[in-house]
Amino acid sequence: MTNLVSGMRPTGKLHLGHYLGVLRNWIDLQNSQKYNCFFFIADWHSLTTKYEDTSELKNNILEITRDFLASGLNPEKSTIYIQSAIPEIAELHLLLSMITPNNWAERDPTLKDLVKAAAGGDEAKEANISLTYGMLGYPILQTADILTFKGALVPVGKDQEAHLEMSREIARRFNYIFDCEFFAEPKPLFTDTPLVHGIDGRKMSKSWNNDIKISATEEETMVQVKKMITDTQRIKRSDPGDVERCLVPFPYYKVFANEEIIAQVKQECETASRGCIDCKKQLAEIINLYFKPIRERRANFSDEQIKDILKNGNQKARLVAQNTLKELKNIMKLY
Ligand code: TRP
Ligand code: SF4
Repeated sequence: MTNLVSGMRPTGKLHLGHYLGVLRNWIDLQNSQKYNCFFFIADWHSLTTKYEDTSELKNNILEITRDFLASGLNPEKSTIYIQSAIPEIAELHLLLSMITPNNWAERDPTLKDLVKAAAGGDEAKEANISLTYGMLGYPILQTADILTFKGALVPVGKDQEAHLEMSREIARRFNYIFDCEFFAEPKPLFTDTPLVHGIDGRKMSKSWNNDIKISATEEETMVQVKKMITDTQRIKRSDPGDVERCLVPFPYYKVFANEEIIAQVKQECETASRGCIDCKKQLAEIINLYFKPIRERRANFSDEQIKDILKNGNQKARLVAQNTLKELKNIMKLY
């Protein structure tokens, strides 16, 4: 069975952007039973841009796992683990760094974004942030994440395309140098994410405060949905709207509502028989209904249970990782 590997940085509680863009896809892949799935929390990667303040890291790991499990990732079906619990990943990262030309790392088009992220969006600070060795090594560490588990398939967003390309090149170079076919070249599996925005119409992001968390209460969800930007050309309640111009709510209807409701919203919006306030109220109810079981499951996992699940996952992952490193050192004729 094909090994499938993917990870997420523990940036905090997950929002609907993560859910629709990544998590829902992971769960479908897991449930297809076509792959041997490895899903992990990339806590080392989060240090590349947030090495100074680690105060929330442990708690973020717990919360992201809670989101994973409540949404349907299943430790019986997938191996779920923490990157930093697998020292073999760091060991492989080091070994791969020996064979990776510096200019491969330097041409990573996301390097500038890492510096930006490390500055926390503060432009004055940005000039004072140095590019670290860790940032340069980001895609090589990511390659180690994948190759430690002999990942052949990697579900990621389009933003990871350049990283995956480097992973393929590194795998190829290893096989060439050591005259073997040890690593499969990991193929990206791009998710086609429905275009759903943050409530202000920009990309959904925690740092812009325009997100709706999976874990939000029904009231919090309602408050956020009511702030969504609609059709900006619809000024008065009596103006007919245009769902194609409706920036945020209508695309959400397309994701969460059934055909019948979508058609009704379109018809009522375009004849002005529906106002945006009522429309958003109904949308919040639909979103709340969709996430109700997930939110209930979320509340039912104790910290202890989650830690236990991670401990088991780490153990399972580690056995695989140890085995890969053993084989690899054999090929490299290392001690
Ligand atoms: N860099 C990825 C992101 O920001 C997260 C990640 C780290 C990852 N290691 C990985 C994804 C390995 C897939 C495979 O989204
Ligand atoms: Fe968007 Fe609904 Fe307002 Fe139409 S009525 S513009 S679909 S929020």
